[in-house]
Amino acid sequence: MTNLTTTYMGLSLRNPVVASPSPLSYTLDGIRRLASGGVGAIVLFSLFEEQLREQAARAIRLVEETAESFPEALSYFPSVAEEDGGPRGYLELIERAVATVDVPVIASLNGVTPEGWTDYARAMQDAGAAAIELNIYHLAGDPDVSGREVEQRHVDVLERVKSAVTVPVAVKLSPYFSSPGEMALRLDGCGADALVLFNRFLQPDIDPEELIVLPRVNLSSPADARLAQTWIALLRGRVRASLAATSGVEVAADLARYLLAGADVVMTTSALLRHGPGYASELLDGLSAWMARKGFESIDEVRGLLAVPADADPAAYERAGYVTAMRAANAGAYNPW
Ligand SMILES: Cc1cc2nc3c(=O)[nH]c(=O)nc-3n(C[C@H](O)[C@H](O)[C@H](O)COP(=O)(O)O)c2cc1C
Repeated sequence: MTNLTTTYMGLSLRNPVVASPSPLSYTLDGIRRLASGGVGAIVLFSLFEEQLREQAARAIRLVEETAESFPEALSYFPSVAEEDGGPRGYLELIERAVATVDVPVIASLNGVTPEGWTDYARAMQDAGAAAIELNIYHLAGDPDVSGREVEQRHVDVLERVKSAVTVPVAVKLSPYFSSPGEMALRLDGCGADALVLFNRFLQPDIDPEELIVLPRVNLSSPADARLAQTWIALLRGRVRASLAATSGVEVAADLARYLLAGADVVMTTSALLRHGPGYASELLDGLSAWMARKGFESIDEVRGLLAVPADADPAAYERAGYVTAMRAANAGAYNPW
């Protein structure tokens, strides 16, 4: 009998498969299905900084308009200003989800500026979120902004959110830093309780017939896992924060790969969208069967077995791997896909 239990930023999970943010968590019914499908925890779809700003701007407009015409109506203001499906709906969904499912429910806050909206993390915590996943999807599109400024922004946003809550805070980040390892260490040093590797960069397609740009999200394929796998293997044992893998899980062997690299939990969205929320239990059955076949009794025995060794120089280790692979490729040993 294999033991799949694990911990993720201090939370006890029944297994290491976590549903990452997606439309599957948009409704209470969807959340219920994810939980009964077998996942160990659920990260809800993101609430965006832009939604919180819109709500705040609308609230200010309403106060001004109402104060001008009916000063006595100000006492009704909160219920007038709030809308369904937006920030308030999100808090209600957290409350209902927490009361309904028996796995941790993690709220996702998605933003890039260290400003007032970060306080919303507190409201998420008060609604019952077991943790906050902070998605800092910052595309450094302005060529006048230095790499150091971009990095500092990540630190500032994290610090703001950390100061607003007592529950654990995970940071979901992009791999596109000059030194992703140093960025990970800085976030770790600023109190990130987990690092979620990685955000998939939205690369818009171009339709040459219609002459339009198509900013669409594609589902991932297993090859998308390699980048996160590489960095998880490098960071295992070098940060205090938990490591969560996100991208490219399609079959149970992909879970095994990430765990061997050193992930504490493995997240999945594309596979659950393709095959349905119940597919999590198939992935878990496959993981248990693989562990039994290999003689592993617990996730702890698997985790990090193929991470970059603690005493290795990570840069030299990666360079050696690269040179070996390229020399073999030039001698004809490469995979066709
Ligand atoms: C339809 C869809 C919606 C998503 N929505 C969010 C979101 O709201 N917030 C977020 O952090 N990630 C979001 N993601 C990214 C996923 O959580 C996940 O990190 C990514 O798809 C890579 O994992 P996968 O290969 O298992 O799909 C979304 C992905 C998809 C496909």
